[in-house]
Amino acid sequence: MCGIVGYIGKEKALPKVLSGLKFLEYRGYDSAGVAYIYDNEIKITKEVGRINSLEKLLDLSIPSNIAIGHTRWATHGEVNIINSHPHKVGKFTVVHNGIIENYLKIKEKLQKEGIIFKSSTDTEVIPALLDYYYQKENNILKAIVKTINELEGSFALGIICDDDKNNLYAIRRGSPLIIAPSNDGIFIASDIPAILNYTNKYILLNENEIVKLSKNEYQIYDNKLNKIIKEIKIYEGSQDDAMLNGYDHYMLKEIHEEEKVFLDTFNYYVENNKFKDTMPNFKKYQNIHIVACGSAYYVGCIAKSLIENYANIPVYASVASEYRYQKNFYDQNTLVIIISQSGETADSLEALRKAKNDGIDTLAIVNVAMSSIAREAKYTLYVKAGPEIAVATTKAFLAQTTLIALLTIKLQGQNDLLKEFIGLEKHIRELLNRNYQEYAKIISKSNNTFFIGRLVDYALCLEGSLKLKETSYINSVAIQAGELKHGTISLITDNTLVIGICTKKDISSKTISNLKEVKARKANIIYITNEFIEDNFYDQIILLPKVNDIVMPILTVIPLQLIAYEVAKIRGCDIDKPRNLAKSVTVE
Ligand code: AGP
Repeated sequence: MCGIVGYIGKEKALPKVLSGLKFLEYRGYDSAGVAYIYDNEIKITKEVGRINSLEKLLDLSIPSNIAIGHTRWATHGEVNIINSHPHKVGKFTVVHNGIIENYLKIKEKLQKEGIIFKSSTDTEVIPALLDYYYQKENNILKAIVKTINELEGSFALGIICDDDKNNLYAIRRGSPLIIAPSNDGIFIASDIPAILNYTNKYILLNENEIVKLSKNEYQIYDNKLNKIIKEIKIYEGSQDDAMLNGYDHYMLKEIHEEEKVFLDTFNYYVENNKFKDTMPNFKKYQNIHIVACGSAYYVGCIAKSLIENYANIPVYASVASEYRYQKNFYDQNTLVIIISQSGETADSLEALRKAKNDGIDTLAIVNVAMSSIAREAKYTLYVKAGPEIAVATTKAFLAQTTLIALLTIKLQGQNDLLKEFIGLEKHIRELLNRNYQEYAKIISKSNNTFFIGRLVDYALCLEGSLKLKETSYINSVAIQAGELKHGTISLITDNTLVIGICTKKDISSKTISNLKEVKARKANIIYITNEFIEDNFYDQIILLPKVNDIVMPILTVIPLQLIAYEVAKIRGCDIDKPRNLAKSVTVE
């Protein structure tokens, strides 16, 4: 996902913008660029690769007070300097996060007007359209309104104009953007970590809101150019949230925050073994749809298992990219739950909007405060994971798994299971402090890994497999244990690595049988369980604490996360910013 940072103020802009971009690297990118005003001109410098490569091309001592910067995660057009942002057409220079759905139609219209495009991006139509309307309106704000009224799709924009070198403009639709006032100027940014070194104040822009910023003030408008006043929020966390604090990687730091994250999330909803009013009294729903992407969907699969078993409510779990296009069977007795760490994932947001448009009650389970999904759902339950910088989600996953276990108990309508959470942090701490090197060494040599499990253990297999894939680039697949013999077992040969997860006593004998089937074909087995068994069907065993099924997934995921981290480290991968990945996929 792209990142935007802009600054206008009394101090040098370039160092602040570059520092901010570095704190957005976690979003994933493949090129970067800046535009700044100096010597009464707009200068643009762009580079493929890391921000450090861009930095080498710049003189940060330049006394420019206005700059906009961008990290690009390519959606339209290959990774090269021409397609990198900022893009300038005529008098307008723009950085953009999002996708313009109707860019081809606009491009053809403007080409007929004689406008020449240099890149193959969708973004370039934005400065072109701004310049086109500016020539007609001779007013930047009016040109902006005409432009955004014609654009279809999502955009967070930073804009500077040749004819107005004392102001910076910003607009938001569909992609997150904040305005952050500081003592010596004002920032625009895609996310809070970019500005935490300079301020903890921020304003969240709503859809189609336009901002005109000068060195010491800003004005926000709606898309009819009515002036609006918005609340300045104070970020509750600290700069530490965006720092490594001695860890080699954000992923490791965030995993080791899981004990605190568990307690923060639990204590936000429960006190003295009773729910606080932070957990709403949901009316009785006859069925639940859970919709999400990636790891958040796997949390949904865990939730399906827990809610059906404990609250006796049928649950349908679906990936958002399917759900939003398929025929859905829901009604006033349905609750649609959207799970999302970032609260900005495009497919999840559109699935939410579809359910809302159909008049269905919606609940968002989100980590990022006031994110789009959080703001648009009827109910919102926040996990208290704090900013998650690493692309691979870990602490947010554990926090979501904690919250859905609490939600299950709430929907069940009795509180006695809340006692199962008491003291769980000791088990979390113990699992975090184990050494998983022996397992990581084995897995790091494998090019194909299979995770097998049943029911809720299969959901954890899905997450363990994804963690391994996205951090260490090892091909891995999660299969329902009972499905293995229906085809995939043909791939099992000498030393094929199979990781079996088995934490539910009532079905463990079945999964053990499946593991013995692959052992008979000379597979190498790592067995993850909470019931020790002396047997030769496994080669290594990871013994988990035995706790109530309702909280067991919270523990099971920890070794899977740390093993993935250690394997990626052995293989020398870019752990916090895996290739091709973005922290939040705000494009479809
Ligand atoms: C998780 O490690 C992945 N980075 C990815 O699958 C992620 O869970 C997915 O993109 C959903 O993101 P969200 O929770 O912010 O909606």
